Amino acid sequence: MPSKSAKDFFRPLALGAPQPLMEIPARPSRAIHFFDPSNEKMAAKVPQMVGTVDVLLGNLEDAVKADNKEAAREGLVRIAQETDGLGGGQGPTQLWTRVNALDSPWVLDDLTRLVTAIGDRLDVVMVPKVQGAEDIHYVDRLLAQLEAKAGLQRPILVHAILETARGVANVEEICGASPRMQGLSLGPADLAADRRMKTTRVGGGHPGYLVRQDPPAGADGSPDIGADRSTYQQDLWHYTIARMVDACATHGIYPYYGPFGDIADVLACEDQFRNAFLLGCVGTWTLHPKQIEIANRVFAPSVDDIRHARRVVAAMGDGTGAVMLDGKMEDDASLKQCLVMVALAEQLAEVDPALKAAYDEIEVS
Ligand code: GLV
Ligand code: MG
Repeated sequence: MPSKSAKDFFRPLALGAPQPLMEIPARPSRAIHFFDPSNEKMAAKVPQMVGTVDVLLGNLEDAVKADNKEAAREGLVRIAQETDGLGGGQGPTQLWTRVNALDSPWVLDDLTRLVTAIGDRLDVVMVPKVQGAEDIHYVDRLLAQLEAKAGLQRPILVHAILETARGVANVEEICGASPRMQGLSLGPADLAADRRMKTTRVGGGHPGYLVRQDPPAGADGSPDIGADRSTYQQDLWHYTIARMVDACATHGIYPYYGPFGDIADVLACEDQFRNAFLLGCVGTWTLHPKQIEIANRVFAPSVDDIRHARRVVAAMGDGTGAVMLDGKMEDDASLKQCLVMVALAEQLAEVDPALKAAYDEIEVS
């Protein structure tokens, strides 16, 4: 028995706060690009990045020194106020922030200051180290109070980072804790530490996490364990991403890969991003401008995928029954797979002229 009537989930949690959304808009968010608003060099680049990246995120949490927490908060206020086309549900680039953790001395001021000063520009607040629904309920009510105080017309959405063992255990209840929930990101560094995993890398694979080919038979027919045998590195994050994708899909919200810390290894970065895309994620964090190009490419369906998807759509007519295409069976279910791709392509084409041109050139025979 739920402790709250289903109808009450869509009532504002404070008098005068905006109406919660019934559905989370599917806005392009292939790259959530992190910047430190206390770093003047980085902050100066923000205006030029508007329109080149789907989301700019002013980071206030980890990677910002304790002495710079206030400067980061105030820097973000200034950037939001001075940068055209950034955030507010309009324009080409969303504005997100990652506030400090709920047990930190900074988070109350982060939320209070940001919502009252730039709440009309903030699209999403990312909350780190979320453990359970209670963390989302706290943020939910506080945001409603602050929205009412600031006279906001549009609710600010909430994004949780999945980076504690308890958070993973509670992932479904976190996703369903509030109509504000926009999505989840994998936080591989904190999660590895919290679970006592034995990797010191920020995201990505590990050469020690592998499976090995069976030994071939030796001269006497017994297994020759000393023979050359291929090994295949496995993905440390597969389980968590799969759980995250299912929980998000169940609740109509969006899953994301998190940070990939080896900035120089663009190939391994691309592989991790692609695995996440194939499993159902809609985007990723980017920590360096060169990761943005990778994310924009990987989190969009390829031209070949869209050519194939359009052929299936055309061949399936009213969408029922089965057809053979290039020797392969297509039916109602594979049509739905193709429609997922086509819908994403259409949505991305609206914000990305190069992608639009590439998709427009496809000829379906
Ligand atoms: C991100 O916040 C992480 O901990 O990986
Ligand atoms: Mg973290």
